[in-house]
Amino acid sequence: MRNAGVVPAGAHPQMSILQVFPDADSLTQAAAEHIVGVAAEAVTARGCFTVALAGGSTPRPVYTLLGTPAFARRMNWERVQVFWGDERGVPPNDPRSNYRFAREALLERVPLPPGNVHRLRGEDPPVRAAAAYETILRGFFAAPGAPADASPSSGFDLILLGLGADGHTASLFPGHAAVTERVRWVVAEYVAAVSMWRITLTPILINAAANVTFLVAGADKAQRLHEVLEGRSRPEVLPAQAVQPTRGRLRWLVDAAAAHLRQAP
Ligand code: 6PG
Repeated sequence: MRNAGVVPAGAHPQMSILQVFPDADSLTQAAAEHIVGVAAEAVTARGCFTVALAGGSTPRPVYTLLGTPAFARRMNWERVQVFWGDERGVPPNDPRSNYRFAREALLERVPLPPGNVHRLRGEDPPVRAAAAYETILRGFFAAPGAPADASPSSGFDLILLGLGADGHTASLFPGHAAVTERVRWVVAEYVAAVSMWRITLTPILINAAANVTFLVAGADKAQRLHEVLEGRSRPEVLPAQAVQPTRGRLRWLVDAAAAHLRQAP
C-alpha cells in the first residue's frame, strides 16, 4: 500500500492522509481491511463498533468482500452497530435504497443482530424520518441529559463516504442548506439534481467521528478529487470539503485512476 502522504486542506492536516491504490480491487481489499481494523480497535477499547455506511457503487464490492467468510469471521458482529450516512427517500426494497444494497451485499450474510441495524426510514415522510433518525443518533452520541440542540459529545467510530462527480458526499449536495447546517445532525432535502428526497447526516455529526474514510475510484472522479483536496476551500460548491473531523482521523482511500491529477507531494 503506497501512502502518497498528500495532506488535504483541513483543520488538522496532521490527522489526514491520502492512500493511492493501483486499481479498484486493491482499493476494495484495503478498505475491507481498514474496516476490520477500526472495528477491532473500537471493540477492544469500548466494547462496541459504530459505523455509518455510504451509499453509491464504490463501497458495494467492499461490503461484499466484508461479507465473505475470510473477513466476516474477523468481525465481532454482536458488537457492531450499523447506521447509514444517508438514504434516498424511497422504501427499503427500492433498488435505489442504500439500505437494500447493504443488506444484500453484507447484512443478510453475517450474524448481525437485527437490533444492531439502524435503518434510515426512507419510506416515511422525509422530514419526519430525519428527525426520528436524529433521535436515535442522539441516544448514541449526545451526553446524557444534553439539550435537544446539543453538539455531539462523541461520534461514530467510522463513517464511510463516497465522492460524487459534482463534489457531493453522503447527500450533502452543492448549494444545499444541509452543507452548512449548524444544529441538526440529520436533515432531509429535496435534491433537484437527482430528482428525489435525500436524508443525510450533516457535517456536525460527520465531523465528530473518530474515523472518516472516503472511498473514491475511477477516472471520472479525478478532477473533482483534485479540486477537493488541492483547490481552495469552498464547501458550498464542493461539499466534501465540509468534512473536516474535529478530533478524528480523515482518510482518503482512492485508486490511481481517481488520483491521476494529483500533484506530487
Ligand atoms: C449515495 C451516496 C453518495 C455516493 C456518491 C458516490 O447515496 O449515493 O451516499 O454520496 O457516495 O454519489 O457514488 P459512487 O460510489 O456510486 O460513485
